[in-house]
Amino acid sequence: MNIFEILRESHEIQRDLSEKLLQTSGDSPERHELFKQLKNELFAHETAEDRYFYIPLMMTDSGLSITRHALAEHHEMDEMIEELSETDFSNPGWIAIAKKLSDKVHHHLKEEEHSFFQQAGKILGEDQKTALAVQYKNEYQRYKDMKKDMLVQS
Ligand SMILES: [Fe+2]
Ligand SMILES: [Fe+2]
Repeated sequence: MNIFEILRESHEIQRDLSEKLLQTSGDSPERHELFKQLKNELFAHETAEDRYFYIPLMMTDSGLSITRHALAEHHEMDEMIEELSETDFSNPGWIAIAKKLSDKVHHHLKEEEHSFFQQAGKILGEDQKTALAVQYKNEYQRYKDMKKDMLVQS
């Protein structure tokens, strides 16, 4: 498996979770559960993607611009997640922020899949694409496991 194939796996999960989250209402267990899942998925994916996809690209001149753009969007999504955490789940405005996040997630993933991956495909070597997939997967899994442990403890 190469880095692009493995990144897409989490993208599908993110699309699914962000759409399901918009179907929830009020301070419900479903909203809490889906929000937690989306937050954990975004965190694990963004962290591993920053470290094992964007940072190597950032070291090249041709990868600099897409990398800056993508990292800025990761930051924007983090801020929306934080805004949702700080807003009362029963607040009628909550879903509007969730919609803004879902739109951003969809926009970001589409841009990665339809533009950044093609550009990165020309920058990274074949061996690097496979090696980064292994490193990404380990890091992603490490954060997913960490969240599970935290859930068990709480
Ligand atoms: Fe991604
Ligand atoms: Fe991303």
